[in-house]
Amino acid sequence: MKTLIYYFTGTGNSLAVAQGLCRRIGNCELLPLASLAENPTPIVPDAERVGIVSPLYFFGLPAIVSDFARRLDLSRTAYVFSVITMGGSGGSAALRQLEGILVNGPGMRGLDAGFSIRMPGNYILMYDSAGQERIERTLQAADRSVEEIADKVRSGVGEMPGWSPFAALIHHLMYPRFVKGVHDADRKFAVDDRCTSCNTCVEVCPVGNIRLDNGRPVWLHRCEQCMACIQLCPTNAIQAKKTEGRRRYRHPEIGVGILKEQARR
Ligand SMILES: Cc1cc2nc3c(=O)[nH]c(=O)nc-3n(C[C@H](O)[C@H](O)[C@H](O)COP(=O)(O)O)c2cc1C
Ligand code: SF4
Ligand code: SF4
Repeated sequence: MKTLIYYFTGTGNSLAVAQGLCRRIGNCELLPLASLAENPTPIVPDAERVGIVSPLYFFGLPAIVSDFARRLDLSRTAYVFSVITMGGSGGSAALRQLEGILVNGPGMRGLDAGFSIRMPGNYILMYDSAGQERIERTLQAADRSVEEIADKVRSGVGEMPGWSPFAALIHHLMYPRFVKGVHDADRKFAVDDRCTSCNTCVEVCPVGNIRLDNGRPVWLHRCEQCMACIQLCPTNAIQAKKTEGRRRYRHPEIGVGILKEQARR
């Protein structure tokens, strides 16, 4: 059975999970969903089994992932699953949101299974990155989860979380405001004198939201707030809010070259 996994990633966690699943499931293809922005609607996957792997943003889906899901027709797909990567908790809220979008979408077909995996948090606007040791422990546990999820996907398990009252409340309180302002939220970003005009921020942005103007990044207000530009700048020259002095995070197995490559697709 062929599997197609659509994913979105800023700092590599979701890509690492998608890669791990693909390896273990076999006969599997990975596709960055940001590359399908120009595709005609509906998007009809050429695979019997489809996965959607995404980070959690404010107890919900990144705006680009919900837009993508609205265009996806899964009516001819035998098995559909999703995996949400998150720094803390609340993945069930994004899975319930995705389910709602899919059943009301062109294919009128929801998820067979939904899973969440705790990964290192990358929301540097709110907190510092964890230390090396904690990151390693978190990633080891995540690897075990990927293995378990791949087994379940291979055997076609049906497993969806319900809305927990806590997750529903936080989603309701925080998510709509986040989504409303997300594309413009790059107005908070600024570059300092450490910038070497290396172009990395331009190349890693998954939605082409940055260009260099006189050697300095300029943001174009279609931001997804994925944090890739801030986290991957080699000289830590991009700041927003309290990011000065905070440690930068990228999944250790997903190199900058891989993130550039997938952003180009
Ligand atoms: C804008 C934004 C909002 C986030 N909100 C949440 C959240 O509500 N709950 C949570 O557990 N993690 C949250 N995170 C952390 C990410 O979901 C987590 O680190 C994820 O694994 C990052 O995936 P990526 O490396 O593939 O981009 C947030 C991250 C960002 C950038
Ligand atoms: S990644 Fe950093 S150093 Fe390179 S161009 Fe962007 S801001 Fe400048
Ligand atoms: S501008 Fe930065 S935070 Fe916004 S989508 Fe691009 S890489 Fe992500």
